[in-house]
Amino acid sequence: MTAAAPTVSGGTQSSRDGAVLFRAQGLHKSFGGVRAVRDISLAIPMGSVFAIIGPNGAGKSTLLNLMSGVYQPDAGKMRLDEIDMIGVPAHRRVRYGLARTFQKIRLFKQLSVLDNVVAGFHTHHNIFAWQYVLHGAAFQRDHARCRDEAMGLLAFVGLEKRAQVLAGSLSYGEQRMLEIARALATGPRLLMVDEPAAGLNAAEVDTLLDRIGVLRQRGITVVVVEHNMDLVMKVADRILVMDYGQYLFEGSPVEVQANPAVIAAYLGADFQ
Ligand SMILES: Nc1ncnc2c1ncn2[C@@H]1O[C@H](COP(=O)(O)OP(=O)(O)O)[C@@H](O)[C@H]1O
Ligand SMILES: [Mg+2]
Repeated sequence: MTAAAPTVSGGTQSSRDGAVLFRAQGLHKSFGGVRAVRDISLAIPMGSVFAIIGPNGAGKSTLLNLMSGVYQPDAGKMRLDEIDMIGVPAHRRVRYGLARTFQKIRLFKQLSVLDNVVAGFHTHHNIFAWQYVLHGAAFQRDHARCRDEAMGLLAFVGLEKRAQVLAGSLSYGEQRMLEIARALATGPRLLMVDEPAAGLNAAEVDTLLDRIGVLRQRGITVVVVEHNMDLVMKVADRILVMDYGQYLFEGSPVEVQANPAVIAAYLGADFQ
């Protein structure tokens, strides 16, 4: 499959082999009496696809919310590269190169598909606010550049022909791909996607797999929280398995498939 190059800033040049891009140690998060995340530690190698799997309610989305700054942990440490992420709010993590999509789609449904992606560039506008106010030449140049780059990202996720329609009129699968394009517009080094295959048909899942592979080739590290086992096994370099908020196992897809505790807790007969 061919597609335009995404205009994203990968970490390939600056990557050191085997370097860890994101590290967490001893993360805890409770909601009232519910211990959603209990003592989770992980190290995500730069340039890898790292999957987080586990049954419903295992704490996957909560972990992603901690990693992206939507929630702050009750305890634990987190670093993106060498930068301490504790206390850093979500919008500042985006500037450090961390982008995500949500399990429940969050798009501007009344805006066009293109404008949803243009909105993702807001962290990278390199002109000052007063220039927007004046609507001067710098604004025009910047806006034109954003639109061009946004079109490139839409081509990357296969939505270039849908650029002018309202985001709310897209199919569910298309909305998920649009969320990825919008997240890419922030120029992430680390892209985190929460159940990106939920509601996608088989052809859309294939496209998603292909696109994740391309992003990885371009040096973007990807964290995939997923329910679709097939997808995880095909795309992940490493897999963290959670159960009841806790660490159950971590390994390669082959190791995960062979692990009795994982099979018992989650994969069961479905997987055999
Ligand atoms: N904002 C919240 N308030 C209260 N409970 C929550 C909240 N978010 C998650 N939980 C609870 O934490 C547990 C883990 O949920 P979640 O992280 O969404 O799991 P998963 O994504 O693996 O399905 C569940 O019991 C869920 O009900
Ligand atoms: Mg979830």
